[in-house]
Amino acid sequence: MRKLIAGNWKMNGLASSLAEIEALKGTTGTAACDIVVCPPFTLIEKASVRSNGSNIAIGAQDCHAHISGAYTGDVSAEMVADVGARFVIIGHSERRVLHLETDTTVASKVTTAHKAGLTAIICVGETRSERDEGRAVEIIDGQLRGSIPAGASSSNIAIAYEPVWAIGTGLIPTLEQIEEIHASIRRMLEERLGEDGREVRILYGGSVKASNAADILRVANVNGALVGGASLKAADFAEIILAAS
Ligand code: 13P
Repeated sequence: MRKLIAGNWKMNGLASSLAEIEALKGTTGTAACDIVVCPPFTLIEKASVRSNGSNIAIGAQDCHAHISGAYTGDVSAEMVADVGARFVIIGHSERRVLHLETDTTVASKVTTAHKAGLTAIICVGETRSERDEGRAVEIIDGQLRGSIPAGASSSNIAIAYEPVWAIGTGLIPTLEQIEEIHASIRRMLEERLGEDGREVRILYGGSVKASNAADILRVANVNGALVGGASLKAADFAEIILAAS
């Protein structure tokens, strides 16, 4: 399966940061994996123009559950697709925690993203206390069941396993722990989508860096990575992309 390496810039990036996309284009043109950069909303259109004609696709970090309407300050899936996004991250733990997004909200957003023709990267992951209580598999299974809507398929979703305690902390699960969770996500996807569940890409996210990417990307059922901090600088992100190629 072709790996997918996605960068989530979170609330970082000004117009000057578009130079990172130019630099990335210069170094990853021959990469044998799919590449997505998800800048903040304000840079999606310009990033799409800059990445035109390259192997870098642009994604959003969220979208609204409705396609349009009286939702002051929100941005819809159709709007980000209109300015060039092809992917959208949905249900990131920072949205689930800070914006109180439930599995039901996430599923609605994914449906709307599909209507706009976007591929949804659906995030799931356990907290430190849930892992310590031995409930990681159960929590992730529940999140997946609630967050994947009807109409999902390997061509319009990817799953990102991001342990909340590994995001931005420099901590990562052991390779065995990653393998266990990815295997259980794969089982759930097969149960839900049948044979097509084997084709859905499952990304690992949480403190991925150039120094650990190759090892993580070799784990069974790890079909890519969702990268935060290390995606902000083209040189760091390119090393991760090359590790997947
Ligand atoms: P870090 O790579 O900075 O840990 O962030 C991971 C993440 O949340 C990507 O969505």
